[in-house]
Amino acid sequence: MAQAAAFDQRARYDALMDVVRSRMTTRQFDPSYTVPREHYELILEAARHAPSGANAQPWHYVVVTKPETKKAIADYFVDEQRHRAKLKMKFPTPNYRGLETAPGMIVVASDFRWTRAFPVLLDGSELDRQYHENAERILLQSVAASTMSAHLAAAALGYNVWWVTAIGQENAQKAMKPLLGIPDEIAVIDIFCFGPPAKPPYKRWKKDLDEIASWDRFDPRQYRSLAQIDAWIQEKRSQVMYRDESKVD
Ligand SMILES: Cc1cc2nc3c(=O)[nH]c(=O)nc-3n(C[C@H](O)[C@H](O)[C@H](O)COP(=O)(O)O)c2cc1C
Repeated sequence: MAQAAAFDQRARYDALMDVVRSRMTTRQFDPSYTVPREHYELILEAARHAPSGANAQPWHYVVVTKPETKKAIADYFVDEQRHRAKLKMKFPTPNYRGLETAPGMIVVASDFRWTRAFPVLLDGSELDRQYHENAERILLQSVAASTMSAHLAAAALGYNVWWVTAIGQENAQKAMKPLLGIPDEIAVIDIFCFGPPAKPPYKRWKKDLDEIASWDRFDPRQYRSLAQIDAWIQEKRSQVMYRDESKVD
């Protein structure tokens, strides 16, 4: 029988939680710092061990070291941000110039043809379409699981991190793939930046445990109406994105 003590390794848990809690986003880095090659390898070693649907490991990481490539990637996001501002989307967009300050930059890519490794029919039917949609989600969840391991490894080394989404943006694909020699079939999913922060980082608001979990049955007190969700977006979103947790009303 399994020994209970084997599952009570509190010191190990505490060490993990120290890393989990201290993983904090920064959107501007100290550009004078150089990330040692070994650190990229340690971070990607963590990404390598992630779980994935069918153990397909549908990820590929392109380490970006050239300042001109970082600048070109920053240029794309700054342009995209201007475009979004014109659409009046009201999303509190950060300053993407910060991308070019990142001492560590890794582009996260994935080949969507790996969806064939998941439950799909491949007969062009409506049912196949539904399975395929699900397969894409499995793929993206898998890539996110691996990316998260990498972010935690960077946090464990003492760095701050920045997770920037590129997936779903046609123009992002067109702008970035040629810079990185990424083949047509492969999509850029995210940009992962890390390094020492330009300014002291701050811990953002996180929901309490009882807000995110229920025991045995969904706690109805945690249900939010659409109006409540919209009100949160209007009143709280920008605070929780850009303020220290102690400064959220
Ligand atoms: C899937 C995902 C996509 C994200 N995309 C962006 C992004 O495009 N731009 C950005 O500035 N931050 C992005 N973030 C970072 C979040 O804004 C950040 O994690 C959140 O505000 C919580 O802050 P914390 O990371 O310090 O806990 C993303 C995070 C995740 C997990």
